[in-house]
Amino acid sequence: MTTASPATGWVAVVLAAGRGTRMRSRLPKVLHPVAGRSMVRHVCEAVRAAGCEQIVVVTASADDEVARAVRASVPGVRIAAQGEPLGTGHAALAGQAEAEGASRVLILNGDLPLLTERTVRELMQRHDGSASVLTFLTAFLEDPTGYGRVLRRMGKVTGIVEETETDASTRGEPEVNVGLYAADAAWLWPTLDAVQPGPRGERYLTDIIARAVEHPDGAQAYTIVESAEAQQVNTRVELSRAEQLMRERIRRRLMLDGVTLVDPATTYIDAGVTVAADTTLLPGVHILGESSIGGGCRIGPNAVLRDMRVGDRCEIGGSTLEESTVGDDVTVGPYSHVRPGSAIEPGVHLGNYAEVKASRIGARTQIGHFSYIGDADVGTDVNIGAGTITANYDGVDKHRTRIGDGAFIGSDSMLIAPVEVGARARTAAGSVVTHDVPEGTLVVGAPARIRPERQGV
Ligand code: UD1
Ligand code: CA
Repeated sequence: MTTASPATGWVAVVLAAGRGTRMRSRLPKVLHPVAGRSMVRHVCEAVRAAGCEQIVVVTASADDEVARAVRASVPGVRIAAQGEPLGTGHAALAGQAEAEGASRVLILNGDLPLLTERTVRELMQRHDGSASVLTFLTAFLEDPTGYGRVLRRMGKVTGIVEETETDASTRGEPEVNVGLYAADAAWLWPTLDAVQPGPRGERYLTDIIARAVEHPDGAQAYTIVESAEAQQVNTRVELSRAEQLMRERIRRRLMLDGVTLVDPATTYIDAGVTVAADTTLLPGVHILGESSIGGGCRIGPNAVLRDMRVGDRCEIGGSTLEESTVGDDVTVGPYSHVRPGSAIEPGVHLGNYAEVKASRIGARTQIGHFSYIGDADVGTDVNIGAGTITANYDGVDKHRTRIGDGAFIGSDSMLIAPVEVGARARTAAGSVVTHDVPEGTLVVGAPARIRPERQGV
């Protein structure tokens, strides 16, 4: 065999078309998130990271909710439609046409979010290193409830019995079928085609194991040590277990990478988050979605950051920040809210009860106390007094406010957008600014008027 990379000639078929009735959910099972990412996305990412570029996801129809979500979150996957969900064997076979051309096939259940790239790669390598037509993953679980049990005679695998078909003699078997298989395509497809429907009209993918055992080159089992990886999700109870296991894994990775978690149990970090070394996360911190946090920051207690990009050495106390960027050396909160589309430049101070929406806040600007800054472009070195409000909405449309570099906005100023305050201009406390304020001038009153005599005071 000529292999340029470990995964040349492989295709992965991810089974994601089941009804997932045991979840009792309107959302298809494989789209339920675990640490912020759908289960099926986790599975596809493990496969990709293991070096298998070609991925076919089997969905009920080619343009259903699962197919659309997969296309949007995992670039380059192919979708195969199963139609009626007639069992895992039927689903795998539905992937055949899209998997054409590959000599080896990985089949994965779509509800195994904890499978790691390492295990997937190891399974492929073991398969390539042996003559077996089929290699599959097993695990020893303390509680094997809900899994197919692996049957062995004299240590050799003889088949799998589904839990519903176990009896007193097989139910106690602690070794389970995880739901990850590697097979030679030339053997797999005709074998799958020959699998007959079982008692409930479903074709079990697991039947191929007994068939492989009949083959001279047989089936081999690869048993994982890290049994957490085998956590499947059929019910919401298992979903919560998978969530907990995934979060523990993420927290451990961060801590080993140099991030301090003062109380790991109350720190919630999604799978798409990176945090640089020497950042401290205090209790009650949630970092969600696709976020990256710089080094030397101190975040929390009780902060929620979602889809954020945060620089180095920031201090973010109990606040909520969403879909925005924060430069280096910024301080926020407690009790502030940065809403989507904002860019907070380096050295900015957002104090207590500051709400910023879709605005740029220039470097070193201070917004120390309760304020609403929305749809605004605020320059550098600006001081925004307590109670300042950009009145950006006239009841029909949103308008922008511009504040030039070095401007001083007095406490309780009302900036009625669209309006521009020039560089180094000042508004007196309580002004209602309805017209543009020229550079360097002072405006006073409601509506605010220029006070030339106090210019520069
Ligand atoms: C399956 C295995 C079982 C194993 C367990 C662990 C079979 C018959 N049994 O059981 O041995 O221990 O997984 O992970 O395979 N799906 C389809 N189309 C269908 C049915 C299912 O695409 O018609 C998909 C589901 O969306 C799911 C995956 O296949 O992602 C597995 O199906 P599921 O119903 O969860 O199988 P289990 O009963 O858990
Ligand atoms: Ca399952």
